[in-house]
Amino acid sequence: KRWNVQAVDQATKKADIKAAAALIQDNETVAFPTETVYGLGANALSDEAIAKIFAAKGRPSDNPLIVHIAERQQLHQVAKTIPPIAQRIMDAFWPGPITVIVPAAPEIAQKVTAGLDTVGVRMPAHPIALDLLKYAGVPVAAPSANRSGKPSPTSADHVAYDLNGRIAGILDGGVTGVGVESTVVDTTGEKAVLLRPGGISREQLIELLGALEEDPTLGQSDAAPRSPGMKYRHYAPEAPVYLVKDPEKRLPSFIKKEKQTGKHVGVIATEEHLEAYREADVITAMGSVKDLTSVAQRLYDALRKMDQAEVDVIFCETFSSEGIGLAIMNRLKKAANGRIL
Ligand code: TXA
Ligand code: MG
Repeated sequence: KRWNVQAVDQATKKADIKAAAALIQDNETVAFPTETVYGLGANALSDEAIAKIFAAKGRPSDNPLIVHIAERQQLHQVAKTIPPIAQRIMDAFWPGPITVIVPAAPEIAQKVTAGLDTVGVRMPAHPIALDLLKYAGVPVAAPSANRSGKPSPTSADHVAYDLNGRIAGILDGGVTGVGVESTVVDTTGEKAVLLRPGGISREQLIELLGALEEDPTLGQSDAAPRSPGMKYRHYAPEAPVYLVKDPEKRLPSFIKKEKQTGKHVGVIATEEHLEAYREADVITAMGSVKDLTSVAQRLYDALRKMDQAEVDVIFCETFSSEGIGLAIMNRLKKAANGRIL
């Protein structure tokens, strides 16, 4: 069932979100928009419900899920204790695009944590997500609503393309805002550790906490990271992706070379530079160089469009790692399997 809750009156919208919440209560799966990407939600207290998420996504069972709540008073159902670092992060950034790893409460389904004694939890800053969570009345585990390995969905069409027939419902709330997933921070040790860069920047965390360690495997594609999900090839179109440094100068010659060997060449680039790459067979724009938030918003849609276009090789521009740029480059490196020219 797909509910479009954008262009309807308030009463219909409320009824639709309540119908979706009833599916969650029945231990079914429902996709819903958040401020980052679409999530595939299910009751975090039920292993039966959570099993349906893993089945629909084709997700490896050793990759734990993030639990979503609408109100702070739900925390006791999710977390055994709240470390002081987690408290400061929640006070500063919730509701918002940041997940804290905390000791898990016993009620949380085993399948949510993949057997770990910790759990990721966040309060999303999206009115439809918050209403759904309130009406469901239970903590809702929700990974990104894509088939495992594919780019996360930033629209209900992306969700339908990947998961139609595999899930009970989709709440269509339009295109998501941030475009990349939440930041994940481990707060269970003495110092905060950044496990996944995302919507809240490293700089914002350092300003709040004074210090931030980083998972040393961040950005590498082969090592075993502390956030289990970060070890998988991810966000990847079928054709190989190459990231290009100093692209305006260097990318046009790569296009030429590949075309000489008869290959169909795709390019993902910012609006300002499209003209420089006109010899490519397919060009997809993603935002403006002057505003990395616009690049983040359109990143996954651009990767998905390349998957639709029949290209043999994909070249993509690179960005500074400041602010949201760190999350953009982290996802691009995974999509490219570490290939940087
Ligand atoms: O923005 C988001 O976070 C989206 C929306 C739907 O909220 N959700 C999302 O979930 O990105 P998912 O499952 O695609 O990514 C969850 C990440 C994975 O890298 C996973 O390994 C990590 O969080 N994670 C979850 N629980 C963890 C834990 N207990 N310890 C370490 N990492 C954990
Ligand atoms: Mg994901």
